[in-house]
Amino acid sequence: MASLVLAGRGPTPPIVPLPAEWRWTGPGFEVRQDTRIVVDAFGPEWRALGETLADRLEPAMGFRLATSAGNGRIGSNTIVITDRIAPELVGAEGYRLESGPSRITIYAAKPAGAFYGIQSLRQLLPAAIENPFFTPRRSWSVPGITIEDQPRFPWRGLLLDVSRHFRDKQFVKRQIDLLAYHKMNVFHWHLVDDQGWRIDIERYPKLTSVGAWRMEGGKRYGGFYTQDDIREVVDYAAKRYVTVVPEIEMPGHCNAALAAYPEYSCTGGPFQVPSLWGVFADVYCAGKEATYTFNQNVLDEVLALFPSKFIHIGGDEVPKTRWKECPDCQKKIKDEGLKDEAELQSYFIHRIDAYLDKKGRRLVGWDEILEGGLAPGATVMSWRGMGGAIEAAKMGHDVIASPTSHCYLDYPYTSISVEKSYSFEPVPPQLNRDQAKHVLGGQGNMWAELTPLPRDTDRQVFPRLSALSEVFWSPKKFRSWTDFQPRLNGLLGRLERQGVKYFIEPPRFADDTNVFLTSTSAKLQPAAPGDTVVYTLDGRDPSPQSSRYRGPIPIQRNTVVKAATLRNGRLLSKPIERSYRRETLAKPGSGPATRQPGYLTRIYEGTWDKVPNFDGLQPVSTSVALNLDLKRIPRPEFYGLVAEAWVMAPEAGVYSFFLTSDDGSKLWVGDRLTVDNDGLHAPLEKSGQVALAKGWHRIRIDFFQKGGGRTLDLTWIGPRGGPKKPVPAFAVGR
Ligand code: ACM
Ligand code: ZN
Repeated sequence: MASLVLAGRGPTPPIVPLPAEWRWTGPGFEVRQDTRIVVDAFGPEWRALGETLADRLEPAMGFRLATSAGNGRIGSNTIVITDRIAPELVGAEGYRLESGPSRITIYAAKPAGAFYGIQSLRQLLPAAIENPFFTPRRSWSVPGITIEDQPRFPWRGLLLDVSRHFRDKQFVKRQIDLLAYHKMNVFHWHLVDDQGWRIDIERYPKLTSVGAWRMEGGKRYGGFYTQDDIREVVDYAAKRYVTVVPEIEMPGHCNAALAAYPEYSCTGGPFQVPSLWGVFADVYCAGKEATYTFNQNVLDEVLALFPSKFIHIGGDEVPKTRWKECPDCQKKIKDEGLKDEAELQSYFIHRIDAYLDKKGRRLVGWDEILEGGLAPGATVMSWRGMGGAIEAAKMGHDVIASPTSHCYLDYPYTSISVEKSYSFEPVPPQLNRDQAKHVLGGQGNMWAELTPLPRDTDRQVFPRLSALSEVFWSPKKFRSWTDFQPRLNGLLGRLERQGVKYFIEPPRFADDTNVFLTSTSAKLQPAAPGDTVVYTLDGRDPSPQSSRYRGPIPIQRNTVVKAATLRNGRLLSKPIERSYRRETLAKPGSGPATRQPGYLTRIYEGTWDKVPNFDGLQPVSTSVALNLDLKRIPRPEFYGLVAEAWVMAPEAGVYSFFLTSDDGSKLWVGDRLTVDNDGLHAPLEKSGQVALAKGWHRIRIDFFQKGGGRTLDLTWIGPRGGPKKPVPAFAVGR
């Protein structure tokens, strides 16, 4: 910010996201029953902000501050909201907050800035201000401070998937409240996907009468928003300076729409709204003109409901299977002089881009819209890493960063820790200064496949979204995981009072050791600096009285170590545990009959939620595969797989295996279950150890795939340590 250089004066203020600049100024302000809120700016939006502040303070304080309009002369004992500041100092979303003994003043050029000033003021008050009930206190004090603040990025978002599991509008409004509290400003509403169409479109009533419902456990399951619901949510969000960006998926992820209107597919259907996850072959037919008319008619109603400049049209994960066989699609490719199906996808997106452009809107799509050529007005939301963002920004397109590596809030904390989210940098180093300006910001994505119950959403979203809010708002130079801890702890106390069931990370085991020959030690690492870790060795859950972890725990016999995070005398995390096993060296086997690299692979048909006992089942095919790459599997959505091989242990000792899978998997080495990575989940690495004599050993991987992402990978580290390496596998004979 141009005006003052306030920053670096004393400790950081207890605010998340951290303000851009601040200076501690001495005595602060006391909010009393006779404190007045004065709005010294003209217009209903400004007046409403005075009421917003009074609304916020009333429940806990038990009194409502009187609000009045200012006339330039402002007395003491007041909280002033004013627009008397030069716009170039604070920008459209910035504010200046001054707190001293006689008044608090929030300066902002635009109402959004004043709204964010109010959010900071909330965090400067005692945490009890967030209590939803009357909380008598001697004083409600605000420290003496001057803050100048504005965001690093204009796009600070959260995606909520309401297709996989419908969420009612109360739930949605609560997410918007929590977003606004974190000074985030985009609610990306994922309204359309295969498993449910959630927005009423008057011209196509079957989209919701058919497309909003699927069968789950023999029951009709789903729901949708009426257009009145949508208007209510959009209006609610606008009052909190949150823009609602709707996502209407095309040309893929549209099975719910095709179940209602199969005529817009290539084959004509019929289709059902699926209750399984995945990437389905059936997508909109890009050859039929009627498909474009349909989507444009849908968009007409969407545009009337959502004032957002940006409209998200999906565009991700579009298989070309049907287009390759469809005469209409093939004719379109020929007529339009397109090279292939990738260019047909690009043609589709170009047409929608042109349509939105004509209506004064801008198209946003997932990074797949780069395939076959990016449409001129398109903004790219990068999810498969940051490659899409880099490519698009270099071409001069705006981009939004939400890579699976840091921003997928549906992933387990073992894949994306709070620290990992906090470490995210939305501007890739490959971009120069001008290209970097195209990074509008980023967002956390809360997909819902694995979160059927609304109440489980909080612990996926928080506190990772709190960490991301700082990534998207605060200056990069202040990013400090250590400094963030006490501020996050303070914030969590406030979120708790708002009823948020956030997740507290347990400690982690600092290495992968769990098998030993004579002795070893258990090493623990707190999830965050300053956490206290307690542990037990007797199999019982830790309590606040259990031993404090102070350093490596010596282990000589079979031992179960359980550990948990203790904070403020309270056990906050569920315990983690690991069994340390003393093993003797597994005896080697005969080795492969031929030295053919790879795995003997058997494929099974079926759908499972856990690794089944494949030995009781009949495989549909058996072959030798060079590696575990799943892209070569012809039936990509639902199947089971068993891969068997010999590996050579070059020396005796303890070997660590790392098995990554999406969905579940297990690894046996000889007859020892070495890694259990079972269950339905996003890509997840688990490790295990085994003591091997020098020589050949049999390994076996069991795996199942139940739709969605698919990954399978195995690496190992030998007794001498070093980096993870691919396991040199040799196929067992048939
Ligand atoms: C996505 O996760 N398919 C955008
Ligand atoms: Zn077609």
